[in-house]
Amino acid sequence: MTGVRIDRSTGVQLPDLRAERVLVTGASDGIGVEIARALAGAGAEAILPVRDEWKGAQAVKRIRADHPDAALATHELDLARLASVRSLVGRLLEDGRPIDRVVLNAGIVLLGDRHRHLSVDGYELHFQTNFLGHAVLVLGILPLLLAAPAPKVVVQVSLAAASARLDLDDRYLIEGYTPLRAYAASKLALGLFGLELGRRHASDGLRVALCHPGIAPDTGIAADLRAKSSWSRRLLGARLGGTPAQAAQPALVAAMTDVAPGRFVVPSGLLGWSGPPVEAKLFRRFDDEESAARVWNLAGRVARADAD
Ligand SMILES: NC(=O)c1ccc[n+]([C@@H]2O[C@H](COP(=O)([O-])OP(=O)(O)OC[C@H]3O[C@@H](n4cnc5c(N)ncnc54)[C@H](OP(=O)(O)O)[C@@H]3O)[C@@H](O)[C@H]2O)c1
Repeated sequence: MTGVRIDRSTGVQLPDLRAERVLVTGASDGIGVEIARALAGAGAEAILPVRDEWKGAQAVKRIRADHPDAALATHELDLARLASVRSLVGRLLEDGRPIDRVVLNAGIVLLGDRHRHLSVDGYELHFQTNFLGHAVLVLGILPLLLAAPAPKVVVQVSLAAASARLDLDDRYLIEGYTPLRAYAASKLALGLFGLELGRRHASDGLRVALCHPGIAPDTGIAADLRAKSSWSRRLLGARLGGTPAQAAQPALVAAMTDVAPGRFVVPSGLLGWSGPPVEAKLFRRFDDEESAARVWNLAGRVARADAD
């Protein structure tokens, strides 16, 4: 990895980002607040699209407690409502200023709930929140990214993607639904979309890097994981997992460095659950260029609002 220094005690040392504008999804809580805190702390103007205005304001307060001069702006975004995604795209395009880095970090896993849920747009809820909403957002603001001098998109996947199965003919996940399968499939779809985005726009100067945070037991998502885990797994999580700030490090490295093709940024510790970020070979599931092209076509059709 080149382009950033990693200090064992303080983590990733970011360069001066005062000339940059970044957008981080899911920055109202958990790992996303820490990604936004680091980028804004390095001087970037940070756009934080959030679905809960109050939580967004709390996140801003938490970041400003460390960085009183941080340039932060929250915007409304519910990835599970395409109208909300399109509305944010419209506002950012109207504003017209380039965006240098986008971190696709928001995510849900409804582990406490065995029922399959559909979004208001009719897609399985993990599929839309974690993948499709993000894809429509990025495709919508692509002109703003391409207007930046060295645009970067960071795609937050998960260890769960390593064993994911994605059936694009069953995007409502009617067959064999479990929340974990739906979550894993959505993260695989998001990663495949990101890789295809990188391939298609490399010649425009756009770089895309995947990463995963390991396991951070003290976040909103992990509360569901905790509730459903055995005591031994919970103990293991507490021993081997990282804090949200540590779990933010792979995304920060992915945002700032050139990641080699076929690789992504992950925690280096046991089982990949925590530890300083390193580059590793991408999960084999991400080698599927045919599915990547299908995911890309679906996202494109939905972004153009003429999906079937
Ligand atoms: N923690 C882990 O162990 C772990 C492991 C692997 C991967 N990850 C990934 O890391 C990322 C961050 O997760 P986290 O652990 O920080 O979880 P978290 O604390 O639950 O944060 C998730 C963020 O996503 C936002 N979000 C959820 N649904 C949304 C929607 N419909 N529209 C807009 N924003 C939405 C949440 O907003 P609200 O504040 O409104 O809920 C929150 O800001 C996720 O992509 C997750 O899949 C986490």
